[in-house]
Amino acid sequence: MTKDLKVILVAGARPNFMKIAPIISAIKKFNESINPSKRESRGVRAEGVNEINPINTSNAIDSSNPINYLLVHTGQHYDMAMSESFFHELELPKPDINLEVGSGSHAVQTAEIMKRFEPVLIKERPDVIIVVGDVNSTMACALVASKIQYGSRQHLSTAGPQHFNGLRPLIAHVEAGLRSFDRTMPEEINRLVTDVLSDLLFTPSEDADENLLREGISTTKIKRVGNIMIDTLLAHLEKARQGRPYNRFGLREKNYVFVTLHRPSNVDDEGSIFRIMDSLINLSKKLPVIFPVHPRTRKNLVQFGIMEKLNGHKDLILLDPLGYHDTIGLVDKAHFVLTDSGGLQEETTFLKIPCLTLRPNTERPVTIKIGTSKLTSVETLNEDIDYVLNGYSRIGQIPELWDGKTAERIVEILAAP
Ligand code: UD1
Repeated sequence: MTKDLKVILVAGARPNFMKIAPIISAIKKFNESINPSKRESRGVRAEGVNEINPINTSNAIDSSNPINYLLVHTGQHYDMAMSESFFHELELPKPDINLEVGSGSHAVQTAEIMKRFEPVLIKERPDVIIVVGDVNSTMACALVASKIQYGSRQHLSTAGPQHFNGLRPLIAHVEAGLRSFDRTMPEEINRLVTDVLSDLLFTPSEDADENLLREGISTTKIKRVGNIMIDTLLAHLEKARQGRPYNRFGLREKNYVFVTLHRPSNVDDEGSIFRIMDSLINLSKKLPVIFPVHPRTRKNLVQFGIMEKLNGHKDLILLDPLGYHDTIGLVDKAHFVLTDSGGLQEETTFLKIPCLTLRPNTERPVTIKIGTSKLTSVETLNEDIDYVLNGYSRIGQIPELWDGKTAERIVEILAAP
């Protein structure tokens, strides 16, 4: 690295927080390795940063830190359970800037993020923005960064010529290259757009590299660094296990099913969600089911009048969304997991817990090919549940580079001269 680097990290929705946390740790570690006297120093955050109005952000760079960062929270997720609890548990610093966009249709939410992120870039002029995953915040911020024009180069803080031409920030996408090939999923559109705009594509697996190459992305932009979610999982597994959250719900190890569902394709359609809930009721008669309910899912269960149908089944335990440690602690000792989450497909593969993935496809095929996940559908769900209850299990393998060092590799690449 020839000069200092100023980075903006973007997080917006629940699955982003687990992906940002290890990058922040790796930046701190990198700074300390260059300048040990700076332990505990954040570098860029200054007193009086206004977290609502992006214009009043800090420009206070600590020149002794080789990498300075600002954390931008778009506010796509905003509840205690969907956002703040993750900041506590993952020991994330308070965001420097919160765009407070809140919920809305895709167009409204994306447009609000873009409108509110543009002034941040103009003011802060980072060398690099790092976006993670595939949510609306990821795509919206990448799109703003790709069109911003800093104008004069002389105001720029840094980075060597290899990084960028200096007129706009370099865009780095963590978890690039994943494809479900299903454009009815909003996340697939977000992945395609973000990847085509990114300058550095940090991929988790070989299939992701292949997807990008097939789409004509230059090999020089593609960096296989591994799975960032596993960095967080490994850093928190011990603590998650110590909590033994199943005890709090009167459950025994390997004797319950952990369920999460939030994909629009499953929970926005009345017929689908009705049938899925029917399957859960039946399942709970065989094995207790613990089901933290995502706000989207809860809203639909209430609106479609299905909530009452779920009450009164003592072994179907409905909860508000859980924090990270409880979730991992429950997944780790579940008999199996039923989910439509992307992250849980990976976490179950790593923890070697059987996972029924309620989706027609997955952008994480490695979890099916060598991991513990099996796709299922509303039509085949009962059959697949019985299959797992009757002993289906796969020992599975842990994919390459799912080793807890992904963030370190990312920071090394960013800091390279
Ligand atoms: C978003 C992501 C999805 C990710 C999921 C994880 C997109 C397109 N989707 O979906 O990829 O897997 O997050 O949770 O970016 N709500 C609250 N409190 C909150 C946030 C949302 O009550 O803190 C409710 C609102 O009613 C909102 C609904 O949940 O309308 C959906 O939120 P939204 O961010 O639009 O999408 P998710 O379904 O959470």
